[in-house]
Amino acid sequence: MIIEGSITCDTATKEIVTKDMNVFYNPVMQINRDISIIFLNALGKKDMRIADPMAASGIRACRFAKELSEGIVKEIKANDCNSDAVETLKKTVDNNSCENVSVYLGDANEFLRKEGPFDYIDIDPFGTPNPFILSGISSLRIGGILAITATDTSALTGTYPKAGLRKYWSKIEKNELMHEVGVRVLIRKIQMLGAQYARALIPLYSFSTDHYYRVFFRLDSGKKKTDALMKQHNMVLFCPYCYHFEFSSHVFNSELCPFCKKKRKGIGPMWSGSLWKTELAEKIFDMSLKNDYLSKETKKLVEKISHECHMDVPFFYHVHKMWKLHGIKNQMKMDSIIALIEDKGFYAERTHFNKYAIRSDISFPEFIDLFNIGKI
Ligand SMILES: C[S@@+](CC[C@H](N)C(=O)[O-])C[C@H]1O[C@@H](n2cnc3c(N)ncnc32)[C@H](O)[C@@H]1O
Repeated sequence: MIIEGSITCDTATKEIVTKDMNVFYNPVMQINRDISIIFLNALGKKDMRIADPMAASGIRACRFAKELSEGIVKEIKANDCNSDAVETLKKTVDNNSCENVSVYLGDANEFLRKEGPFDYIDIDPFGTPNPFILSGISSLRIGGILAITATDTSALTGTYPKAGLRKYWSKIEKNELMHEVGVRVLIRKIQMLGAQYARALIPLYSFSTDHYYRVFFRLDSGKKKTDALMKQHNMVLFCPYCYHFEFSSHVFNSELCPFCKKKRKGIGPMWSGSLWKTELAEKIFDMSLKNDYLSKETKKLVEKISHECHMDVPFFYHVHKMWKLHGIKNQMKMDSIIALIEDKGFYAERTHFNKYAIRSDISFPEFIDLFNIGKI
């Protein structure tokens, strides 16, 4: 018997969780489920038709039924194509008296198209979400929320660049920026799929943790809104010799780094806009403080993001890597570096994407210069 949040579930888990498990339950994904719950509570939309098309043990759908605030749920539909999973799902629903959850057996795409439209769709597959994105978009009401998980981080971080190009239509390089690159490439791919039908998918809250990526989008409609999003699809020009980076709407092979004059790499295209809506990220953090069902890890993550979301610039300075590349011996503590940046009149925050990195609006040369200022 597993207990997660307010729900008990009669299923087994293994030390090493794989997709070959008869009924899939991954305790590591509690953060993913926790954040979906506080996201919806913070959003505060009422009377929602909620779809969990790959529901496995049913833990997510049942936690929605029990832990979402009054008035948010109109009904919840939970589906899986694995009949053993559906048996467990039914038991989870019954044992926890989740009267507003109905259970379906079948393919996720067929389920979404037949049972939609929904106000919230949670795509949580093994690996890439690609096979389910189009039916997710077309089964969502305008103003609805599409929540996407991607666990195929090797394609999104550049471990397998050919897979990145094939699956996400982007040229991806593995380096210190990779998890933020992965999230931004994923966002752009999903936006491109919506764009062909003049559907604009606006990222409201995004994160990377435990080797998966997660993005919550709001669906808007119209050519203007869609075109505006696509204007924010850019390449990042990254210099592996000095760590200088900048966004560009184009990439020329011959382009040299303005700082060290060596050849840069063009990574992308990817989304260069905001990853979070600040007010929502703050509300999610506030609500996490009063919620006893969330794990400690969830609380830590949403707190980090509630600070990071104020620094609305893409990417970060990886302090350790820059010390190495620039032969910097004056290796100050992270808090001291942040204080120095703030003294100079810029903003700086840590980033949840990498614990050795700082997100800041300070320019690249001024950042490097900080390490001379602090020298004794
Ligand atoms: C990663 S698990 C989902 C975990 C679940 N959302 C949770 O939070 O515990 C993926 C599930 O998708 C199901 N699945 C895979 N392909 C599917 C398809 N085409 N249609 C419906 N379900 C599918 C699998 O049987 C599995 O239970």
